[in-house]
Amino acid sequence: MKLWGGRFTKEENQLVHHFNESLSFDQKFYGQDIEGSIAHVTMLAKQGIVSEEDRDAIVGGLKGILKDLKEGSLVFTGEHEDIHSFVEAVLIQRIGEAGKRLHTGRSRNDQVALDMKMYCRDQIQETDRLVKELLGEILKIMEENLDTYMPGFTHLQKAQPVTLAHHMGAYFEMFYRDRTRLRDIRRRMNTCPLGSGALAGTTYPLDREFTAGLLGFDGPALNSMDAVSDRDYVIEFLSALSITAMHLSRFSEEIIIWNSNEYGFVELDDAYSTGSSIMPQKKNPDIAELVRGKTGRVYGALMSMLTTMKGIPLAYDKDMQEDKELTFDAIDTVKGCLALFTGMLATMTFQKDVMEESAKKGFTNATDAADYLVNHGVPFRDAHGIVGQLVLYCIERNMALDDMSLEEFKAISPVFEEDVYEAISLKTCVEKRVTIGAPGQEAMRKVIGICRERMKE
Ligand code: ARG
Repeated sequence: MKLWGGRFTKEENQLVHHFNESLSFDQKFYGQDIEGSIAHVTMLAKQGIVSEEDRDAIVGGLKGILKDLKEGSLVFTGEHEDIHSFVEAVLIQRIGEAGKRLHTGRSRNDQVALDMKMYCRDQIQETDRLVKELLGEILKIMEENLDTYMPGFTHLQKAQPVTLAHHMGAYFEMFYRDRTRLRDIRRRMNTCPLGSGALAGTTYPLDREFTAGLLGFDGPALNSMDAVSDRDYVIEFLSALSITAMHLSRFSEEIIIWNSNEYGFVELDDAYSTGSSIMPQKKNPDIAELVRGKTGRVYGALMSMLTTMKGIPLAYDKDMQEDKELTFDAIDTVKGCLALFTGMLATMTFQKDVMEESAKKGFTNATDAADYLVNHGVPFRDAHGIVGQLVLYCIERNMALDDMSLEEFKAISPVFEEDVYEAISLKTCVEKRVTIGAPGQEAMRKVIGICRERMKE
């Protein structure tokens, strides 16, 4: 359909068409578009606005289009502006007059608002499923590594010993929060824009509750101007995706560090690493690096959408067509990252001995040595100073606190007795920490029990 008359040359006409069209990308939600149309015409017939005969013809025609698009026997052709006009044009071509009644009491504005909402709603569910799979992998590692000791870090410096189960448990919390965020968004967004018309509703006796119900919404959106121009849920979804991408990126960063020669905490499966074209010794963590690297474009989509929406007067404006490409890209990117990351994690080997050895070095038990003194009546500030001296003594001799003889301990503070070795052993340092949230096994078992329950959600 040509929108422009004789004032424009053919080339300009083409340029305008390409600039204006969205079929090249909104074809992604043809399924949602057709589902929405079927619900709409079902309601129109129920209300006596179209005949049952026309309804049957339209529904039959739409189902045929859906099937042919899925099978690939019907292809999208460039002359149509968007998915909505494409489906309607094919329908009219296939079933004739009746097809022209489909758009009664509807505008592309409420139609696109519906399609985008239903697409995002489906994708929220898909994303949630992938996050849940990742959580399942994390939980498995937690269950298997309650006594795999490793150093815990602050400032990327060895701080206190933890366990691999505890470290993984931190990621469980993060990704579990991501699931709750997705759930919240879905709850808030679940109102149906259909029936809002271009912006001011319609003069037909539509049953908006009925269409909302057919399409799985909690009810109709209550303001037609808002309904056609609300993209808050897109922004919220992009924000949730950005947070998930950020979590994946942090996790990737750790895996890259753990996989380095210097750390050697993990070994990546060959399938998830690649070699160098020049350096034969290399096995690079490309997948983790790519997941980390892709975070930027997800944030970009969020920033872009916030910026697009900031200047939009009510109600629908064409700027909003820009909601699609970057959102689709962000969704596909995060879903891809989640799937690959889960595979990488599931096939990764943890070098438990290396982790434990590393935890023994770096004075991760210094706090516990100070606590030992405190338990024997020394004020904490003094204890801190005494252990500082011990550490210095050990650094000069390239040894660990545990390697000192009792005489050496006593030379710095007479409070130390034979039981200090037990008190500062790696095992004690971890297992004494049993308040909920801490790495001790007793606490971790309780948390794992709760995590198992959360996996039922
Ligand atoms: N392709 C348009 C979009 O994505 C559909 C809505 C068009 N509405 C209109 N009044 N031009 O936003």
